[in-house]
Amino acid sequence: MSQGPVAPAPGRGVDLSRLERMPDPEPDEAVALQEVWREVAPESRRGRRDLLLPALQALQRARGWVSYPALAAVCRELGVPLADAYGVAAFYALLRTEPGPRHIVHLCDDVACMRRGADRLAARLRERLGPPLHGPEHGGLRGLPGSARLSGAHGDGASPGAAASVGWAFSPCLGQCDRAPAALAGDEVWGELTPEGLEAGLRDLEAAGHPEGARGEPDGAAAEAPLLAGGSPGVPGPRAGCMGEATPLLLERVLSGGATTLDAYLARGGYQALRRARELGPGGAMAEVERARLLGRGGAAFPSSRKWAAVAREPGPRYVVCNADESEPGTFKDRVLLELDPFAVLEGMTIAAFATGAERGWIYVRGEYPDAYRSIRRAVEEARARGYLGHHLLGADWSFDVEVRRGAGAYVCGEETALFNSIEGLRGEPRARPPFPTQRGLFGRPTVIHNVETLASVVPILLRGGKWYGALGTARSAGTKLVSVSGDVAVPGLYEVPFGTPIRAILEELAGGAPGGRRIQAVLCGGAAGTFLFPEELDTPLAFETLQAIGGTVGSGALVVLDETADLWEVAERIARFFKEESCGQCVPCRVGTRRQWELVRAIRRQGGRVDGALRALFDDLARVMRDSSICGLGQLAPNALASLVRR
Ligand code: SF4
Ligand code: FES
Repeated sequence: MSQGPVAPAPGRGVDLSRLERMPDPEPDEAVALQEVWREVAPESRRGRRDLLLPALQALQRARGWVSYPALAAVCRELGVPLADAYGVAAFYALLRTEPGPRHIVHLCDDVACMRRGADRLAARLRERLGPPLHGPEHGGLRGLPGSARLSGAHGDGASPGAAASVGWAFSPCLGQCDRAPAALAGDEVWGELTPEGLEAGLRDLEAAGHPEGARGEPDGAAAEAPLLAGGSPGVPGPRAGCMGEATPLLLERVLSGGATTLDAYLARGGYQALRRARELGPGGAMAEVERARLLGRGGAAFPSSRKWAAVAREPGPRYVVCNADESEPGTFKDRVLLELDPFAVLEGMTIAAFATGAERGWIYVRGEYPDAYRSIRRAVEEARARGYLGHHLLGADWSFDVEVRRGAGAYVCGEETALFNSIEGLRGEPRARPPFPTQRGLFGRPTVIHNVETLASVVPILLRGGKWYGALGTARSAGTKLVSVSGDVAVPGLYEVPFGTPIRAILEELAGGAPGGRRIQAVLCGGAAGTFLFPEELDTPLAFETLQAIGGTVGSGALVVLDETADLWEVAERIARFFKEESCGQCVPCRVGTRRQWELVRAIRRQGGRVDGALRALFDDLARVMRDSSICGLGQLAPNALASLVRR
């Protein structure tokens, strides 16, 4: 955040007269803003619209909401019209523009948590704190009162619980599915939560004004599985494992407790891959990634070396962006890497920058990942202080530095162009393409954008050679894959397997199968944007081509297991609600289609899961329109899981 302006200066010529008439912000708001402005000279702030989101987040932290006078102060500083800034504040689920409870407990009721007792916790919260500020009963987009994304709830403008210090809301997946049921209170994660742990957490919040780390107890096989170091106090760390001779590659340090300091990373082979890249030169490093046949791990499976080559061909300045906005329900792999092996992500990013001639990078971390954010920020600061980032890093005649940004609660910001807009201080709405990010990406510059796992994979590729890595896996899926396993399994956790490993082996040999000897009924493969797989499909090898052949997808690598006791249409309704709430609303097929889809699933549920010909035809028609005419992947993929169930 300390570096100079990077964007063309928007906001010039803004009429500030209305802003001048606003009262000054309260002292605590002014202090919060000073923290944001500290490293940017006053004369350089105008036009730095990219500081808008950090400023709003600072205000939210200071008071629990963003007041108009404070918003106006931000607008005066940055030269952004007030209505425009309000539109940004209102876009994000974790920002509020009205006062309400000082603390909000976000209880996850997404699929994995639903299967592990979130309803008991919700009942306790209702009893204790009254109705939720946001939940299934509210008809509109996701968001809390005071957010324009919420419509229909509390139409009288009153925020229930406004006078109370603690309120609560239902949340989509928090990326803690291995520790389900989970909640987020401020910057504290509450995992494997029991009603008693929840009560203790609420008492801490009410008494001390901050949570002291509430937790529950794992049961069954999960209690026996070794735990790795966690982030938030009192929260169990992830369980992890691997399969196959070549593994662990990505989880090597994670499995031995993590490497969260530079010395720990260096002691375990850290930065040898960057040294190798420098020996090979930019073209040689890129050739290794090409030989490795590395495909993007974020879901789209695009060849990484093609992105690199396209960006390297464009005139500079060029940028590298790490997409750490991991929000696909059921997915937590990037969270674990960022928490326990942050320098590997940073090293992979630095190699990508070296190969493409990029000089600046951004890491955009999901707002609901406080521990991952802290971990990667510390890593960036340490790397910079020790010469692994910055001017002439490691004595090279090339410079590269990285900024860490944090999201504010919007699934759609995982879409790469929406993420660019979010960093730039705009609403996180996807852009139409072309132009593609390799031509006009962040701040209009050629940009390589990769998911966390993709960047971390660059490190073993340079260390072991692209040819070696490319020989792992299957014909069209090279290397290893991180798989987030959750739901009805004995040991939910993060597992690394070579591509081509049968899904059943992952579920049974690594995750211990369904608990209590129950039968697996279905697996949600690839997250909410993936598809259901049924028992006869579980011998399918995990690979892009094999899953595609049966109408599925690797997606984010999430496997959410549903045993014979699950109501699949209840799960389907949760998925449909997720897309309805997370649609940014920019295009009609998605905005209206996700709502109609949710209504159809509810209708099917009401008739006991029977899908008659008329409903099926309606559903197929709707899915076709959404796939063909939505602007971005959210609308295009939203029908997938539901279609796989309707087909069944
Ligand atoms: S498809 Fe949905 S999320 Fe994507 S731009 Fe359109 S409305 Fe927004
Ligand atoms: S954290 Fe609840 S489903 Fe992922």
